[in-house]
Amino acid sequence: MISYRNVSLTCQENTTILNNLTFDIQEGEFFVLVGPSGSGKTTTLKLINRLIEQTDGDILFQGKHLKDFNIRELRLETGYVLQQIALFPNMTVAENIALIPEMKGFNKADTLAKTKELLTKVDLEPSQYLNRLPKDLSGGECQRIGILRAIIANPKVLLMDEPFSALDPISKTQLQDLIKELHEEFGMTTVFVTHDMNEAVKLADRICLMKDGQIVQLGSPDELKNQPANEFVSQFMQVKGGVR
Ligand SMILES: Nc1ncnc2c1ncn2[C@@H]1O[C@H](COP(=O)(O)OP(=O)(O)OP(=O)(O)O)[C@@H](O)[C@H]1O
Ligand SMILES: [Mg+2]
Repeated sequence: MISYRNVSLTCQENTTILNNLTFDIQEGEFFVLVGPSGSGKTTTLKLINRLIEQTDGDILFQGKHLKDFNIRELRLETGYVLQQIALFPNMTVAENIALIPEMKGFNKADTLAKTKELLTKVDLEPSQYLNRLPKDLSGGECQRIGILRAIIANPKVLLMDEPFSALDPISKTQLQDLIKELHEEFGMTTVFVTHDMNEAVKLADRICLMKDGQIVQLGSPDELKNQPANEFVSQFMQVKGGVR
């Protein structure tokens, strides 16, 4: 569904941030980018919604060059969840969630019904949460709302950049379970960044392990565990929580 073809990113000082990435992300796949800090995970992810553009190579989205997409349409088709969700502070939960459906021209009553359904699914009672402002939510609740906001309008792909890393272990486990359930139910192509190998193994169909802007190994969690390509992979698989 998304094809990286010899993708490199070199910045002005001539440092290489991404070095010749070639790989495919399949339709419906839960694809996890893992690697130490500075290895290029966020940059690789941001190429997909064109927050960053590569200096060499091509990326194709459903067979069409990314650069040929209208940016607005592309962004509407890509849900994006960050470590610290930025909800609009002066808008209620319901209004925040309805933003993208509104931009896509969806029917308001349908959106409200869907919002209630999704809130219930993530254990937030609609009558209590619909009209709350973001300042009255906990961090974990904010992340849940951010996830719902990203998925409600059925984007073709969901991009998540360390969405759970600021949460306490219990909320983190709950949200990992939730995102796994949502993925099983809706089958949305998901590209997920983490430095936590346990999280990667739990969620991924395939893991792409990066180092210094290159792919070290790409395969299923079992392949990385049982047939590590080199010492770096086997060490990374052993370190609980991954390395920073
Ligand atoms: N605009 C930029 N100009 C120059 N260098 C950059 C720019 N953006 C990122 N980099 C560098 O590119 C490298 C990869 O950054 P990136 O944010 O993709 O890493 P990451 O794997 O997401 O790291 P982390 O786990 O810390 O979030 C880093 O060395 C970073 O300093
Ligand atoms: Mg990052």
